Amino acid sequence: MTFEEIQKQAKSNWDSQYHGKAPHILIGTATCGRAAGALPVVEAFSNELAKRNARAKVTEVGCIGLCSFEPLVTIIKPSSFTVCYNNATPQVVPTLVEGYVLGDDPCLDLALGTLDGGDGKAVYIPELSRFEHEYRLLLRNCGYIDPGNINHYIANGGYSSLAMALQMEPDTIVGEIKKSGLRGRGGAGFPTGRKWQQCREASGQTKYIICNADEGDPGAFMDRVVLESDPQQVIEGMVIAAYAVGSHDGFIYIRAEYPLAIERLQVALEQAKNLGLLGDNILGSGFSFDIEIVEGAGAFVSGESTALMYAIEGRRSMPRARPPHSVKAGLWGKPTVLNNVKTYAYVPLILARGADWFSGIGTEGSKGTAAFALAGKMVNTGLAEVAMGTTLHELIFDIGGGIRSGKKFKAVQIGGPSGGCLPESMLRTAVDFDSLRKAGAIMGSGGVIAMDEDNCMVDTAKFFLDFIQKESCGKCSTCRIGSKQMLDMLEDITVGKGKIEDIDWLVEVGQDISGGSLCGLGRTAPNPALTTIRYFRDEYEAHILEKRCPALVCKELIAYYILPEKCERACEHCVLSCPVKAITTNEKGIKVIDQSKCTKCGSCQLVCPPEYNAVIRLSPPSLVPVSGAKTQE
Ligand SMILES: Cc1cc2nc3c(=O)[nH]c(=O)nc-3n(C[C@H](O)[C@H](O)[C@H](O)COP(=O)(O)O)c2cc1C
Ligand code: SF4
Ligand code: SF4
Repeated sequence: MTFEEIQKQAKSNWDSQYHGKAPHILIGTATCGRAAGALPVVEAFSNELAKRNARAKVTEVGCIGLCSFEPLVTIIKPSSFTVCYNNATPQVVPTLVEGYVLGDDPCLDLALGTLDGGDGKAVYIPELSRFEHEYRLLLRNCGYIDPGNINHYIANGGYSSLAMALQMEPDTIVGEIKKSGLRGRGGAGFPTGRKWQQCREASGQTKYIICNADEGDPGAFMDRVVLESDPQQVIEGMVIAAYAVGSHDGFIYIRAEYPLAIERLQVALEQAKNLGLLGDNILGSGFSFDIEIVEGAGAFVSGESTALMYAIEGRRSMPRARPPHSVKAGLWGKPTVLNNVKTYAYVPLILARGADWFSGIGTEGSKGTAAFALAGKMVNTGLAEVAMGTTLHELIFDIGGGIRSGKKFKAVQIGGPSGGCLPESMLRTAVDFDSLRKAGAIMGSGGVIAMDEDNCMVDTAKFFLDFIQKESCGKCSTCRIGSKQMLDMLEDITVGKGKIEDIDWLVEVGQDISGGSLCGLGRTAPNPALTTIRYFRDEYEAHILEKRCPALVCKELIAYYILPEKCERACEHCVLSCPVKAITTNEKGIKVIDQSKCTKCGSCQLVCPPEYNAVIRLSPPSLVPVSGAKTQE
């Protein structure tokens, strides 16, 4: 088939589903949707439609980024408006089928809003204030097209860039990517066009293309969403890269913990091959390129490019020293281009809309958009895509909706486990490679974790360092021993054994680890400690000098105490919940905690009814009145 024929077929398939006579029901079944219960909703729709003999089609789509509203159901009705329902359950399905699939009642009380009009009777979703701040390129099709149907991607412009690229000189493609200013989205921000050019110019007939889909950062899930929702854009980008550098073999290295992304990729590769968009003689051009999926074994360090190549070769995945750079001697010693999932996904758009269009978005040094996984204490957790240069404040407050439960924002951890923790005073920082680095954080792969007043910054630094220390491959002594020493020191501080000189010592060792480690893991490992010391030094000092945890988190530095004036004497909730029987009732019926038995599990505070709110935490523990029941009266 020619590409025009492929497009025609795709368009007709798309029109029959999205512009047909029957209602069309889209249900988000990416991993986030499934975790929220989307599959029983799919089943309930199938059963209800069959029972009612209703003519309607159900399509499983990916994630539109509004993860906190999952499961999301969208009903597209011919000659009526499209309505999106949030937090759907199997129980509401009969109402939706009766009301809107078969009838004319859009059930707006169950809806998040409408997607095309709605006569002002409901929220018009594209006008939600978060979308004023978003700029969706990578996510444009996510949650809208069926990731398991290549026709949907093609009908929305997919693969026309590849068809065009195959008519272009490879050097022209490389030039266009260079001109666009695209920098790799895997974390380091290396210019993609320069990488491709170096590989193209490297000598040798055999060259490889690798897609890095390891995504090992805790809290990051952008690559997973892209692969589960619109995998063809990544495949198209890889084929164009292969043509540009002269490669015939590609690999997608993806973590085994992403079974759905793997399944959807397998289907996508198969469909691309069946249409002649991948494999032998692509679109009759004489150019051949194939892609193999390699499943990773879940080590964070395997995401580092040289370690990843060792993993594909079947060797132990540890980073190696460079040079030689992978573009000259990478996989099996051959010139190799390795890019992140999102980096490849931009490529078709850049060719279709032009390098000048892309470089017109973003900042001087960081072009285009960036996708972020919003996690932690934000109201709207999920995915967001913004132009580079958008501020952290916009990301967390205008898109993320601010902090949950009316709590106060304290810090944001950006850039993955070895990113930095930035305070409120840095919320005007622009999210781009250079501004974040200047602030002491990194872009990383795009995880954004918001923290509130209940987070202890010393404990946070310890948490991330603990992750990094366990994931260190151990090759460099600075990283292997230094990160353990830093972790031990942070542990001492959180249990009240720290010394004031430890703070400067942490900075010194951190700088040594950064300077003396081979790969990015070690080089950035101290970031959480260094940034929390830089911006929250007073919390370190409180732990060390006053044996006090200001956020009331560090167990050794807090005590639970029952306020006698608030304790409702007849209530026994705390007594019954205490796993170590540390709570007794005194002669006046007031509950008293025996501090020598208390393990600080927090159950009593959780179960104390909110109308009494009698259990509190104190820090330092010495604030607890000493003589128990008598003093409490
Ligand atoms: C410890 C460590 C883990 C990494 N994990 C990933 C990852 O999961 N995904 C990714 O794309 N890049 C990861 N990187 C960055 C890669 O080494 C590499 O720079 C990147 O994949 C290159 O692609 P890009 O130019 O498109 O950014 C990691 C780096 C380090 C040091
Ligand atoms: S810096 Fe750490 S993770 Fe990287 S190679 Fe050295 S020991 Fe391994
Ligand atoms: S914090 Fe846990 S162990 Fe301590 S008194 Fe309360 S329930 Fe018991």
